[in-house]
Amino acid sequence: MVEQTILSFFEKDHRRLDALFERFQELKHDNFTEGEQFFKEFKYGLQKHILWEEELLFPLFEKKSGISSGPTEVMRQEHLSILRVLRKIAEKVDLNDFSTDGEEKELFEILSRHNLKEENALYPMIESSASLEEKKEVFKKMEAFSEERYRY
Ligand SMILES: [Fe+2]
Ligand SMILES: [Fe+2]
Repeated sequence: MVEQTILSFFEKDHRRLDALFERFQELKHDNFTEGEQFFKEFKYGLQKHILWEEELLFPLFEKKSGISSGPTEVMRQEHLSILRVLRKIAEKVDLNDFSTDGEEKELFEILSRHNLKEENALYPMIESSASLEEKKEVFKKMEAFSEERYRY
């Protein structure tokens, strides 16, 4: 992950996850099995992304800004809503029930607003205030997350 910035890496991960979710939406009615695979990749990826943020990025933001409630607290609350809707979709998909349009719309709305806030405020703040060492440490720790923590 040389030359990678926190801002660009996490923005790219948002786009990657959006694309997986869109593939699921496109495929779910025509190719059930493939649709489900895309949903799983999306779900695991999003759960991992959220863990990275809550355990590495948000603490770094809190340390650099001196603000431990407020922005990160709002982001953590939104993660709970995101994970709640994600679970609702997963429960249906597990039963081969793809009548998830309503939940998908809800998830898309929360997630797009949430991602924008991170991209416009939180990530740039971390990018500009954290040292190169601190950023390297984040990337190093990101690779050390065990799969069972997010592949569920
Ligand atoms: Fe987030
Ligand atoms: Fe994010």
